[in-house]
Amino acid sequence: MPVITSIADLRALARKRVPRAIFDYADRGSYDEVTLRGNRTDFESIRFRQRVAVDVSHQSLATTIVGQPVAMPVAIAPTGLAGLFHRNGEIEGARAAHAFGVPFCLSTVSICSIEDVQAAVDKPFWFQLYLMRDRGFNAELIGRAQAANCSALVLTLDLQMQGVRRQDIKNGLSVPPRLTLRNALEIAARPAWVWGVLFGKRRTFGNLAGRTPGSKSLVTLSQWIAAQFDPTVSWKDVEWVRKQWPGKLILKGILDAEDARIAATTGADAIVVSNHGGRQLDGAPSTICALPAVAEAIGGRCEVLFDGGIQCGQDVLKALALGARGCFIGKSFLYGLAAMGRAGVTKTLELLRDELAVTLGLAGLSDVRSVDRRILYEPPRAER
Ligand code: GLV
Repeated sequence: MPVITSIADLRALARKRVPRAIFDYADRGSYDEVTLRGNRTDFESIRFRQRVAVDVSHQSLATTIVGQPVAMPVAIAPTGLAGLFHRNGEIEGARAAHAFGVPFCLSTVSICSIEDVQAAVDKPFWFQLYLMRDRGFNAELIGRAQAANCSALVLTLDLQMQGVRRQDIKNGLSVPPRLTLRNALEIAARPAWVWGVLFGKRRTFGNLAGRTPGSKSLVTLSQWIAAQFDPTVSWKDVEWVRKQWPGKLILKGILDAEDARIAATTGADAIVVSNHGGRQLDGAPSTICALPAVAEAIGGRCEVLFDGGIQCGQDVLKALALGARGCFIGKSFLYGLAAMGRAGVTKTLELLRDELAVTLGLAGLSDVRSVDRRILYEPPRAER
């Protein structure tokens, strides 16, 4: 077993454990991947102030997100197809998150259904919703999430149309995954995945039973999204969802201050500053770059959450310093899941926690709730 010291190590292991089409689905972005890269490089350009001689022996990473206590300011993002990265991937992810004390959010386009996850876990999880052309189906999904006792609904607003993921097209990513002449050798070299996923019980969109073509007529994910997702979605629909869902509501995909000002009037409990992990509008700013202006526009009227490019605990701290209350992890979750199933997700969370604690301490703080912009290093003019 290789020594795992970082999420990059889990990523390298994930690449070996799952077929390329599945790995690339998590790893890659849209078009030229400018925004995907920016999500990382803009994080890397931020520096901390190093502070010394402060007693940091009693640390606390605990906080709340939409009123729910969390062991650290991290949640597992809704990611499509998690169950293709590992058998029962969504269930394993939820179990790891719950044991750790952070929220798990199930995607509309998951492999395990809302009911599968509910039957397998003993704590409430979150559900993410896409608005589809068939609003009746949306109402049904909201009802199912309520019946499953989901404790927050995350409404994704940045996927009215799909940004083209060139690598998925080249790889012929399909749901359910298929064995072809082209990928046969590669798949044969991953027997644990074949046994766990390809021969497993759940291989297609669990929430959408009866709404996708049967396994004989294979679809690419993008064809399915193009046919089902609603390009007419407007703020009126957000109002509609707000009326349907009495619980905590989180709007995901807010990247612009003007949208943030509108979002703050919808009665949502939180927004997520997100560019869909660099998978939608290529050329959009990185989320860490967009965060300060969005947080200012929200002005404390609801919570500001964050995703995009979080690959170590330091990134979490940088996002908190610039106005986020908590961060979602998507790719980092899927790398851990693909690498080692539930243990890999736990490893991802442990790495984030340990990196977060050490960085917090070396920046001279003990409590994650006291983090603000003052922990960041502002270079003198000549250094910029
Ligand atoms: C789904 O959310 C995707 O980005 O593929």
